[in-house]
Amino acid sequence: MDNYDVAIIGSGPGGYVCAIRCAQLGLKTAIIEKYNTLGGTCLNVGCIPSKAMLDSSHQYHDALHKFADHGINIGTPTVDFKKMVERKQGVVDQMTKGVDFLMKKNKITVYVGMGSFVDANTISIDGEKKETISAKNIVIATGSKPSSIPGVEIDKKRVITSTEALSLTEIPKHLIVIGGGVIGMELGNVYHRLGSEVSIVEYAPSIIASMDASLGKEMGRVMKKQGMNLHLSHKVTSVVSNGKTVTVTAEGKKGEIKLEADYCLVAVGRSAYTAGLQAHNAGVKLDERGRVETNDHLQTSVPHIYAIGDVVKGAMLAHKAEEEGVMVAEILAGQKPHINYNLIPGVVYTWPEVSGVGQTEEQLKEAGIKYKVGQFPFRANGRAVAGMDLDGFVKILADETTDEVLGAHMIGPRVADMIAEIALAMEFRASAEDIARICHAHPTTSEVTKEAALAATANRAIHS
Ligand code: FAD
Ligand code: NAI
Repeated sequence: MDNYDVAIIGSGPGGYVCAIRCAQLGLKTAIIEKYNTLGGTCLNVGCIPSKAMLDSSHQYHDALHKFADHGINIGTPTVDFKKMVERKQGVVDQMTKGVDFLMKKNKITVYVGMGSFVDANTISIDGEKKETISAKNIVIATGSKPSSIPGVEIDKKRVITSTEALSLTEIPKHLIVIGGGVIGMELGNVYHRLGSEVSIVEYAPSIIASMDASLGKEMGRVMKKQGMNLHLSHKVTSVVSNGKTVTVTAEGKKGEIKLEADYCLVAVGRSAYTAGLQAHNAGVKLDERGRVETNDHLQTSVPHIYAIGDVVKGAMLAHKAEEEGVMVAEILAGQKPHINYNLIPGVVYTWPEVSGVGQTEEQLKEAGIKYKVGQFPFRANGRAVAGMDLDGFVKILADETTDEVLGAHMIGPRVADMIAEIALAMEFRASAEDIARICHAHPTTSEVTKEAALAATANRAIHS
């Protein structure tokens, strides 16, 4: 039986990054993945394919609605959807092969097969052949799977999850999306740009409700202007498919609505995935929501078994899983790493993009912290005007007394990239004035951040 310093179960961004960091630190490392390709949800059916489809549909949308204004006449552009989906798959293949390469380069042993605990140091791997390995330390990185609504059957043909939505063979005529969260808005955006009628049915009174409320409000305004149907404060009660069409019934304050479409995407959250892991054989405890229970050092109820990423508490984000993978590897190597969970940015890759880091206004109010707000719109920024991206704003929240930045919330062009400046500033506990005094290149959309910081500092934005 092969013996390792560390065995990692699951090769998503949590697992494979943990494996690389373990190998860098001199630990003999194995990784176990039940699918034939490495990279987990993120690379195969999550972050990467969704961004590939978002980019393709964004380019089509620009060709359709913006090129003529730029003085570029190309006639009426058309979509070769088969090619678009093939390109997406090409991007996925390139990325997953990249992970294979990194495993080889770092001399990490890869096992393909379902990993399950025999006991607290032994893992059985059920793949093409059955193997058993032992390890001094084990990291559970088994990720998550889409959740559903009680009583709703996901047939994967007409009633689909994000996985099927990323590999459809036709553009839906009408796509109903249950859940106006991150997946619902991103994939709803993809198909809306490609010409589908899109109806979002959301239980909460706002879309992207987990972010600062001002972002959902502005995004709702923009999506409605673009022609998306938003049914907010509506709880879906039934989803019935006859094989060709799907009927969705939802209850709102004004009564019941019935919608009919050719496809229905269920995007109501994801749940930790531990099926088949036999965690109990190792004595690993799960919490009431089926997640692996961990302490602040990501140790499970068994001290030499750790868990990271979507399978534990906290945000279900690839970069959070990666940071946790690095943290566990460094703990195993005797270091004392730390993650600042307050500074994990959240991003929605719609257009306009949405991002946030730190505390929301709602959280600050609830905590009774006194704060100042500095907000600046993209429509007053030269680069945004040049690119005709006028919707959105940057909002900076700073402590009323000390001026320390407590959070920033953005909606606008490429704010997915712009949020990094604030995360960096907050890590160094910058004040709004610190950001306002830094020279930002002109003309860039980053000047909107500077102006928002000026507005927060002393209400002295220059261009408003
Ligand atoms: P996963 O990536 O889920 O990987 C877990 C792996 O473990 C899987 O490969 C699974 O097959 C394997 N596994 C499970 N059980 C076993 C077992 N017993 N034996 C062997 N292998 C096993 N996050 C972002 O930060 N940015 C985004 O843009 C983004 N976009 C997304 C878009 C979509 C459509 C979806 C669905 C998710 C998106 N996410 C995004 C979330 C992101 O994909 C997850 O947060 C991330 O993949 C979690 O990483 P992980 O390593 O914890 O688990
Ligand atoms: P989510 O939690 O973001 O949104 C789910 C939405 O469904 C919520 O707004 C909820 O109110 C609504 N809902 C639940 N039950 C409902 C019902 N019966 N009727 C109507 N609405 C209902 O979950 P989502 O979008 O499925 O994403 C799952 C995870 O994947 C997220 O945690 C997210 O972090 C991650 N992800 C991240 C991305 C990114 O970082 N850009 C992209 C896509 C996913």
